[in-house]
Amino acid sequence: MKEKLARIEKDCLVKVNLAKSLKELDNIFLSLFGKNGEMTLLPKDFPKLSKDELRIAAPLFNKVKTELEKSIEDNRIGLREESYKKLESEELDLEQTVELPKRTGHLHPTTQFIQETVELFKKIGFQEFEAPQIDTDEYNFELLNIPKNHPARDLWDTLYINNKTASNKTNGLLLRTHTSNAQIRIMKQLKLPIRMMSIGRCFRYENLDTRHEHTFEQFELVYVDKGLNMANLQYLSEYFIRAMIGKDIKARLRPKYYPFVEPGFGIDAECVFCKGKGCQVCGGIGWLEIGGAGMIHPQVLKNGGIDPNAYSGIAWGPGLGRMMMLRYGINDIRSFLSGDLRFLEKF
Ligand code: FA5
Repeated sequence: MKEKLARIEKDCLVKVNLAKSLKELDNIFLSLFGKNGEMTLLPKDFPKLSKDELRIAAPLFNKVKTELEKSIEDNRIGLREESYKKLESEELDLEQTVELPKRTGHLHPTTQFIQETVELFKKIGFQEFEAPQIDTDEYNFELLNIPKNHPARDLWDTLYINNKTASNKTNGLLLRTHTSNAQIRIMKQLKLPIRMMSIGRCFRYENLDTRHEHTFEQFELVYVDKGLNMANLQYLSEYFIRAMIGKDIKARLRPKYYPFVEPGFGIDAECVFCKGKGCQVCGGIGWLEIGGAGMIHPQVLKNGGIDPNAYSGIAWGPGLGRMMMLRYGINDIRSFLSGDLRFLEKF
């Protein structure tokens, strides 16, 4: 018993002197005086001792117990005082500025895609043209061979701006539904031959789903020259799709009606999500329509001040969001405008 108490005392004093925090002291205290602590359990051995042994062991136990408790408490006080001193010596500088690690941002994936597209077409002689996002019915529809009340207007779910003028008539303004509103301006303002592109936001009152957004980017191409034909259109679409989506992507031109082209086409690419089998992203078709295209209608050339007997024209309007979905394997177009940094940081 005597030796055991001596060992406990020695071990404890070493640990107490080395302790650097109140937490460490609490742990030492518990290891001795907690429910199963060494000092708590020791008196259970008293009945095994002879009377003489007990006469020595009991007071010795009390002495060691008091010493250890005192030593722990003294060290507690010491550590507390030291920490108060440290606090006193610390100065709180409320004007101090902290350098946070720098976060470098990057251009939005759509902006990157637009820049790449522009560079690709600059290389083959096309120039940029900007058309307004808020436009008149005339440029968005009428001059493109879509008069008022024409059923073809149903192809575009239009957002009208219904501000009444002084004479109580609506001002005829709308959010452009397509970049084709650039076509007539390009033809009227520029000299022939014309090689222009116009990229920007379009707006539609849509039922949103994996491939439909209310706000999306289109890329209008207007190419007018003598002797242009469908082969030129086919070549340009392949040039564009291979460079911007990938060399191995399957694409097709499918007849489609647009009032401002004749003949007109839908440009489709094979759905990369189901490999042509049909899924939710492509609406079960196996192909994703990426744009409309065609030979500019003679009436539209005339509306733009160009003689359709001397010149022919190519126009197209792919949606860049759909192309990006195929290029990056993104199965929901709404991700691009979600503002979700976890998504955007991947680019
Ligand atoms: C047009 O907008 C025509 N202006 C295209 C055109 C231009 C045809 C020149 C002929 C000559 P359409 O409504 O089909 O066509 O849209 C063209 C492409 O824009 C679609 O294939 C798609 O890629 C994209 N698009 C259309 N609506 C949406 C939408 N709500 N969300 C995302 N992309 C869309």
